[in-house]
This record gives sequence, C-alpha cells and structure tokens, in this order.
Amino acid sequence: MGLRRPAVFDRIVSNPVENVNNHQPHEISPTVALYPGSFDPITNGHLDLIQRGARLFDRLIVSILRNERKEPLFSVEERAEMLREVVADYPNVEVDSFDGLLVDYAASRSATVLLRGIRAISDYEYELQMALMNRRLRPEVETVFMMANEAYSFISSRLVKEVFSLGGNIAGLAPPLVEARMRERIGSLSKK
Ligand code: PNS
Repeated sequence: MGLRRPAVFDRIVSNPVENVNNHQPHEISPTVALYPGSFDPITNGHLDLIQRGARLFDRLIVSILRNERKEPLFSVEERAEMLREVVADYPNVEVDSFDGLLVDYAASRSATVLLRGIRAISDYEYELQMALMNRRLRPEVETVFMMANEAYSFISSRLVKEVFSLGGNIAGLAPPLVEARMRERIGSLSKK
C-alpha cells in the first residue's frame, strides 16, 4: 500500500472525459520530461529552463523539431551540437531531434511530461492551445509550464538573431559558444 496515493488526490486528478484511469495503484517510475522546441539558437532563457527541468525531473530530453518549412540559421545538427555542449554538465539531460507529432514522439521516448517555458502572458494563448491539443491527442502526457528567471523574460531566439545581425550586443542573452557560432555564421553570410 506504500505506493497508493491518497483518495483525495484521485478525486482531484480523475477526469472521466479524458478516460485516464487514475484509480489503479501503480509503481512510481522515473519521470521523463521532454523539452521540445526550435532552439535556433539556444538562448539563456532556454538554458535556465533546462537547468530547472533537470532539477525537477529524473530525465530531461531536449528535442529539436526538424521542420523542413522553416529556414533556420543553424541546421538541426549544429543546434544539437551547441545544445550538447551547453548541457554537458547535466548527466540527466539528453539532446535529440524529432519530426511528426510531438505527443507520438513523447510516447516513443516514454516521456510523460512536456516542458514549455512561459515568458509573458502573450505566450500563454499559443501555449494553452498547444497544450490542450496535445492533451486531446494523448491525455496521458501532461504539459508543465515553467517560468525562466525574470532576467530572461524578454529574450527570444528571433530577437537574439535580429539584434546580433544588426550589430547589437547579445552578451548575457545567449551562451558564449552560441555567440561565437553566430559570429562565424552571420559573418560568413554577410560576406556572400
Ligand atoms: O520553440 P518553438 O518553435 O516554439 O516550438 C514549437 C514546437 C516544436 C513545440 C511545436 O511546433 C511542435 O510541437 N511541433 C510538432 C508538431 C506537432 O505535434 N504539432 C501539434 C502541436 S499542438
């Protein structure tokens, strides 16, 4: 009986619409969380969220969307390489990439949590829509929203790229190795 959750918890999480059976006693297994995104490039806001996720969950898989329609600054392989360097000190963090439906990929990796960062209220509408759609597709996968440190609340990959390409200073907004890779990439693009 040690692993049986209190009845009050069953009442809170049980939802007949979702047809999830929360009433069965079950073994508590390690929680695998998935942090999906474009990460083009990784910012200090992403990194802050990864650090928080790595503390909260047993395993964290940071996974890059392979999106043929977008024209990224860095290829998926380059982004994965940068991510692996910046998470090298976190033994429970893995870097991967995916295509297709996020929830199907989550299931294939045994992830039960989707981790997403919320900066301002403007993020919330889009994130809520995605979270509810993902829940409809696979009710057993739970979305968890987390806030990065408020110092990073205005940072986005898009703005980091824009500021950098226009000659602005991005120190403190992205890891130094990302800044160096951007200098190489944007420098070589502007010479073409
Ligand atoms: O960093 P981003 O670009 O905001 O990440 C968006 C991402 C990758 C989480 C989202 O586009 C996604 O999940 N794409 C996979 C396709 C999918 O499952 N779509 C339905 C989501 S409701």
